[in-house]
Amino acid sequence: MRDTAVALAAAGIDNVRFEARLLLAKAAGLPVEALIGRGRDPVAAAIVDALRSLSVRRLQHEPMAYILGEREFWGLPFKVTPEVLVPRPDSETIIEAGLALLPDRERCWRLLDLGLGSGCLLLTLLKELPNAGGVGLEISHGALEVARDNAAALDVAARATLVQGDWRQPGWEDRLGGPFDLVVSNPPYVESAAISRLMPEVAQYEPRQALDGGPDGLTAYRTIAAAGRRLVTPEGHLLFEVGHGQATEIVGILASVGLAPLPPWKDLGGIERVVGARH
Ligand SMILES: C[S@@+](CC[C@H](N)C(=O)[O-])C[C@H]1O[C@@H](n2cnc3c(N)ncnc32)[C@H](O)[C@@H]1O
Repeated sequence: MRDTAVALAAAGIDNVRFEARLLLAKAAGLPVEALIGRGRDPVAAAIVDALRSLSVRRLQHEPMAYILGEREFWGLPFKVTPEVLVPRPDSETIIEAGLALLPDRERCWRLLDLGLGSGCLLLTLLKELPNAGGVGLEISHGALEVARDNAAALDVAARATLVQGDWRQPGWEDRLGGPFDLVVSNPPYVESAAISRLMPEVAQYEPRQALDGGPDGLTAYRTIAAAGRRLVTPEGHLLFEVGHGQATEIVGILASVGLAPLPPWKDLGGIERVVGARH
């Protein structure tokens, strides 16, 4: 584990002791807690070999979540593969905002998630709202399969309709069975030209169609907002996760299509992270 940590540090990776411990646990097929207090135990050669192969992947800056195959979000375990964006702690802000807008946990709320990825937004909301039902739209077949696996593992599959589709196609919003009490979306929002400058974990490994927001990063927001008043019930809301510094422009996009913007929600770093609007 120490050797792994040294190698990771030399590659410019942070949190190396923590990551080395997770990689050793994965190599040994043990939960990470099982390593505590066993620092002097001999390690079988097969585990050392497995650890070396995992370390090589991490040294090439493959995200930990893809190597481990899992990432926690809102305290829930989500299966993660290279077909999906790695769920981010910042995206929990949209869950907080959504639950604040749907205070009656027992109601049969109707939810929509545009750009499901792993399903972390919709499936978490379905866990928190036990009588709600939800539709999720995703362009990537691979991501849709991961979201379906997560829905089954989290025991919400019966309340989740997960469909393949593309919000750039004419009439896309009419096929989703709306309107919905709450529409959430964390669409791709990185400016196309900025993607190659992101950290290698993101630029080289995460799906381009989960990142690429077009020339100014805002293409998907304009498309989705344009359908907003047809997707949301008269009392309903639309919530977008937004990139750093994008909130003001996206409030303007929402207002321009006749939605009534709400004050943005900040993430734990104090960044305006979620922009919402009423019908
Ligand atoms: C930034 S990721 C968000 C994934 C997940 N909701 C999350 O918060 O981790 C955006 C997702 O939108 C999907 N997507 C991109 N363009 C799309 C389109 N035109 N129609 C439907 N889904 C799209 C991507 O494949 C990706 O899974």
